[in-house]
Amino acid sequence: MTRPLTGGGAASGIDERHPPIKPRRVSFDWSSTPLHWVPGDPLATHIINSFHIVLPEGEKWFIQCVKDARPYIKDERLLEEIRGFIGQEMVHARSHQGVLDQILETNGIDVGKITDQMAKGNAERPEQMAELKRRSPRAWRRRLRFELAAVASIEHYTAVLGQWIMDNDRLEKAGVDPTMLDLLRWHGAEEVEHRSVVFDVFKAMGGRYPTRVAAWVVSLFFLYWALIGGSLYLMKQDPTVTRRVTPLRVLRSYRRSVRQGHVPGIFKLLLGEAPIYLRPDHHPSKVCSTPRALEYLKQSPAAQAAGYDPY
Ligand SMILES: [Fe+2]
Ligand SMILES: [Fe+2]
Repeated sequence: MTRPLTGGGAASGIDERHPPIKPRRVSFDWSSTPLHWVPGDPLATHIINSFHIVLPEGEKWFIQCVKDARPYIKDERLLEEIRGFIGQEMVHARSHQGVLDQILETNGIDVGKITDQMAKGNAERPEQMAELKRRSPRAWRRRLRFELAAVASIEHYTAVLGQWIMDNDRLEKAGVDPTMLDLLRWHGAEEVEHRSVVFDVFKAMGGRYPTRVAAWVVSLFFLYWALIGGSLYLMKQDPTVTRRVTPLRVLRSYRRSVRQGHVPGIFKLLLGEAPIYLRPDHHPSKVCSTPRALEYLKQSPAAQAAGYDPY
């Protein structure tokens, strides 16, 4: 994978550390999107569909963590950025839910087993946190810092993947469904815009380096589980995949999809970011490019139809 574009904010007058973060109230019409929206490549389709499965509830959890920390944040600018972050993630969660309901479900793929479990975790979390806070405010703070660090790690990857999908012109050449490509790029662009928020909240809550490293390891396992487990689950559920789904066949298809640029090399991407994300002086503003994100948002059909431009 080529390194994503980095920076460029100073040259364009944008503060890479604190770009404006405003939600765009997008909507998508999935009526003409086929099940295999990467034509002829069910595996690439389902690898990216794995994100559609985990993001609706995952992003609601991100919001819960940031909302728990919000009363302790004093910095007005960070509070404003948190407002933008929550607004953006709410629209993301809703948009990915649309893919589950209107593409996967209508094509006979039921992912309720996974999403119900995640929704249950989110529904139970506020009570668990309240109980923990009553018993031990110190333990509550420790747990919240760990969760924020885990979300910050995942946000690093959503920004890097967002940059990848904005910069990857092989997807158009492969004939990827334009509505899906717009959803992925609009989401990726907003991930680049708000990439520093959770990291800054973690720091503001007193988060330190060892917690950041430990949470990164946990997040990495979660991401591998979500991507590998999710893709295999979807391939097995897909009524149009008639050949038996075996690890060897999946591995061969995966290598072909990566060669064709339909998906990034996930193993290399996730581990390859370690030397960057785990630098003690790392800050998210040092990776990815807000000007590139804005360039895409200015031509995104969904973002344009939503009619919002903060610049
Ligand atoms: Fe998001
Ligand atoms: Fe995000």
